Formats: sequence, structure tokens, C-alpha cells
Amino acid sequence: MKSLMVREWGEPKEKLAIVESHLPEPGWNEVRVRMVMAPINPSDLLMVRNRYGRQPGLPCCPGFEGVGVVEAGKGPLAWRVMGKRVAVIAKDGGSWATHCVIPAIRAIPLAPEIPDEQAASFFVNPVTAWAMIRKMIRPPKGAWIGQTAAAGAVGQMVIRLGKDLGFKTLNIVRREDQRRILESLGVDKVIVGSGEELTEKIQAALGNEKLHAALDPVGGTTGAAFIPTLRRHGTLMIYGRLSGDPIPVHSGQLMAGMRKVESFWLSEWTQDQSKLTMWSTFRQVAAAMRRGVLQSPVGEVFAFDDFRSAVEEADRPGKVGKVLLRIS
Ligand SMILES: NC(=O)c1ccc[n+]([C@@H]2O[C@H](COP(=O)([O-])OP(=O)(O)OC[C@H]3O[C@@H](n4cnc5c(N)ncnc54)[C@H](OP(=O)(O)O)[C@@H]3O)[C@@H](O)[C@H]2O)c1
Repeated sequence: MKSLMVREWGEPKEKLAIVESHLPEPGWNEVRVRMVMAPINPSDLLMVRNRYGRQPGLPCCPGFEGVGVVEAGKGPLAWRVMGKRVAVIAKDGGSWATHCVIPAIRAIPLAPEIPDEQAASFFVNPVTAWAMIRKMIRPPKGAWIGQTAAAGAVGQMVIRLGKDLGFKTLNIVRREDQRRILESLGVDKVIVGSGEELTEKIQAALGNEKLHAALDPVGGTTGAAFIPTLRRHGTLMIYGRLSGDPIPVHSGQLMAGMRKVESFWLSEWTQDQSKLTMWSTFRQVAAAMRRGVLQSPVGEVFAFDDFRSAVEEADRPGKVGKVLLRIS
């Protein structure tokens, strides 16, 4: 088998290399998946740069998800998915390889109408968007949800969830061309900008209303700009750190209206859920994916051997859609 391995943390383009090894044998209730496709997510690049919240030991193979076909396995949970096309949830990494061994319970069979390009991104972004909205914030119909990085994959899923569930979205992007992408999705409001000056623009866009909650993967003064525009008891939910800047919180703005700052991290959230909740979440996410609600914007697809171009494109500001590695 071939894997993209990291022996030393640093810039992905320089530190990733293809390494050949023997095929691993799955243990009891594990499966070996022949990988077909895997996305390059911001979390993968953070990990290679040694900036992720939970770093594995070195050497390691990145990639937290993908799609492939189960070709070997042991135990009843493995037999259930033998020969099937599955979404791979590689909690500890390892999907950037021709083969990946995972617990059979994390191999999710998917309906044939979900194309590989969507199936490859079944877990990280769709479950995050779904869990934040459906399980944590639960916006009532007609409520306003604000979000930064709205043109990204998670951002577009939140917009589609809004259309599906009946809440409105106020979307912050950093470039004018992203406004056009979002307007083509029929969003309620788009603001182009960053930093403290956003507060005034957000409030002007809302008129007399307030945000029910806001989702922020950017951080810094851009994320903090939402706080004064939240309703009483409204929540700013932090789920990323794209800018790398801490969020400056003014105590007075938070105390007025007893507003809250909370955070979401998928790997932590899944740990808190029962097997039954995860099973029903995956079913609902798969159904929403089939309806196009939890759809990833698909970007360039690169051959496995061309991984350097792939990580470079995934990092490029202004790229359109999720960059994918075609593995087989
Ligand atoms: N907490 C969790 O469990 C969890 C799960 C999934 C995702 N996430 C996080 O969610 C975020 C979005 O993921 P994604 O897959 O949707 O990413 P994506 O598709 O790559 O999109 C990222 C978006 O953010 C914008 N952006 C990047 N850096 C920015 C900055 N400094 N200021 C403002 N905008 C910026 C990009 O704009 P340009 O085109 O201009 O670069 C792009 O529109 C990431 O931080 C990711 O780590 C967290």
C-alpha cells in the first residue's frame, strides 16, 4: 500500500511524502478499506503544521475521512459492510492512503445516488453543520443566524440548512466574489468585511432585530463583532480558528443580555454521544446529503501522486470548493 506520511511537522507541501508498506490486516470488528477519494480539510493542514488541537505521534498519515470499498474485515460488525462502498471516519487520521484500517462501526455504507465527491466528505463538515444547528443551537423558524467564513463548505451547508429548516442567515465573507457565490444560493444577507467595523454593519442589516446565535470559525475581532448583535441569552459558537487570532471578549457586551460564548469540536462532541445518537445522526446526515442540503462545494480533484499540487490548492485563498485526492 501507499500512504502520504509526515515524518516532521511543517509545511504540507514540503513535509508530506509517499511511503510504501505492507497491507495492514484488520483486527476483530475492524475493516480494511480500499480508498477511492479523500478531501483536504483545514484540520488536516493544521495537523501537518503541528497546530491542531490533538496531535498524533510521528510518523503519521493525515486524513480524517474519505470514501472507499471494504475489502477485508473480521467479526460481525465487519461482515455487515464487506464489499460495500462506505464513508470512512478515520478518527485518528490515515485516510490519505490507498488502504485504511478502521473500526467497522466507523465505516458507513452510503446509497449509490451519493457521488464519491460528496461521500468523501460525509463526516467532518456535514456532521459539524448538522450538530451545531440541530443539536446545539436549534434555531426557531424565522430566527437570524450569523456566520463568518460563510462561503466555505461548512458555511454553505449552514445556509442550505437555513432554507430547509426555515431560519435566516446573515453571512460574513472576506471577498466580493464570495458575495456572488452566496447570492446565487439565495441567501438572506451578505456582508463583505472583517474586524470590529462589522458590528455596525451587522446591526444595520438586522434593523430592529437581533441574531439568535452566531457561528464563527475565524476568530479575532471578526468573530467578536457578533457579540453586541446577539439577542438576550444568544450564543456565539466558536468552531474554528482560521485567523489564528484569539477572540477579544468585552465583559460588558457579554453581560448585557447574559450572552454566551460556547465552542464546538466534532471529535469532542462525538465522544459525548451514545452509539444510538451517532447512528441516527449518520442516517439523518445521509438523508440531508441525498436531498442536497448537506452538500459540499466540490473543487479540483487531484491524482494521489500529485498531492503537492493538491495541498497547495487547498491552502489557496479564493479556491472554489473542497479539494479532493483521487486515490483509486
Ligand atoms: N470544530 C469542528 O469540529 C470543525 C469541523 C469542521 C470544520 N471546522 C472548521 O471550520 C472551518 C471551515 O472549514 P471548511 O471545510 O468549510 O473550510 P473551507 O471550505 O476551506 O472554507 C474556508 C472559508 O474560510 C475563509 N477564510 C479562511 N481564512 C479566513 C480568515 N482568516 N478570515 C476570514 N475568512 C477566512 C475562506 O475564504 P478564502 O476563499 O478567501 O480563503 C473560505 O471561504 C475551518 O476552520 C475548519 O477547521 C471545524
